[in-house]
Amino acid sequence: MSLVLALETSCDETAAAVLEGTSRVLADVVYSQIEEHAAYGGVVPEVASRSHLEALPSLLEETLTRSGKTLSEMDAFAATTGPGLAPALLVGANAGRGLAAGAGKPFLAINHIEGHLLSPFFGDPEIPPHVALVVSGGHTLLFDVTGFRDYKLLGRTLDDAAGEAFDKVAKLLGLGYPGGAAIERLAAQGDSNKIAFPRGMLESGDLDFSFSGMKTSVRYFLQKGFRPEDLPDICASFQEAVIEVLASKLTSAARTCGRSVATLSGGVSFNARLVERASELLAKHNIQLQVAKPALRTDNALMIAYVAALSLSFDKPMNTKTDISPNFDPLTFPN
Ligand code: KG4
Ligand code: ZN
Repeated sequence: MSLVLALETSCDETAAAVLEGTSRVLADVVYSQIEEHAAYGGVVPEVASRSHLEALPSLLEETLTRSGKTLSEMDAFAATTGPGLAPALLVGANAGRGLAAGAGKPFLAINHIEGHLLSPFFGDPEIPPHVALVVSGGHTLLFDVTGFRDYKLLGRTLDDAAGEAFDKVAKLLGLGYPGGAAIERLAAQGDSNKIAFPRGMLESGDLDFSFSGMKTSVRYFLQKGFRPEDLPDICASFQEAVIEVLASKLTSAARTCGRSVATLSGGVSFNARLVERASELLAKHNIQLQVAKPALRTDNALMIAYVAALSLSFDKPMNTKTDISPNFDPLTFPN
């Protein structure tokens, strides 16, 4: 069974994990930088990079101590090499390469999106056929998955990512950064039928998404004036509009592809109303919803270690180049 140490530094979490085989977690440590970036209202790449560099030595020490293993016992080292913020990615990729060279073991370059994509199956030795919706602060991607390393992109956002739309609306409402969770909290006390925000591209006939018009319609609504007591209704109505599009398109995708399993992953899958609505729509067609467990919904290194472990166990061609690739490119996906 393989022993892998993985690093994740693509955005504002510095994370490391040690995984034995595809399921035995020996260590899983995440240092979040959210508070450092909150003052700027978003993630600042240079701040992220410096913070990753500062955090790495103690992160590695803590990870190794928890795992009870030494660097020389690892079979491989992995790191996220894209997509993400270039200066942030470089820190993890260079550290991973250095550790691998030092231990004389292979280095595996892992795609961050593939980490999110497979996280709902974490621990399983195989990936069943399914459709997957990856919804994070940076991406909204819908895939048909036949098995490990067999992915077809069905749809994606044409502008903002779903999480980005939550964050931008939260900013308009003065709720701070990141704003998805704050919107969900307020929405729980509001009436989602109060304001008819548009459901972007719900009837587009394809599986792409657009959230920027929804955000703009919230801005226009706010310009007409609102009272603090209107906030719960505004949040609930906006949240419902976004969720309706996500849940409907995930269901259409599963039906079109004839899949009996659908997944949600990425930070926006923390949203309980999204999970509830998606399982409701899918259940009407006997499609089962699988969501990553909470610790795997946000950025983490365990999902990166899992992809590395699967690629070792399936003996698939591995990407061992250490160049980073900051942009998501569906043509060369997963790497
Ligand atoms: O996956 P993630 O941690 O980072 C990226 O790789 O982008 O996702 C962060 C995103 C943020 O946009 C945040 O507002 C959103 O996930 N988010 C939520 C909720 N919790 C986090 N969006 C909606 N409802 C939530 N409860
Ligand atoms: Zn992510």
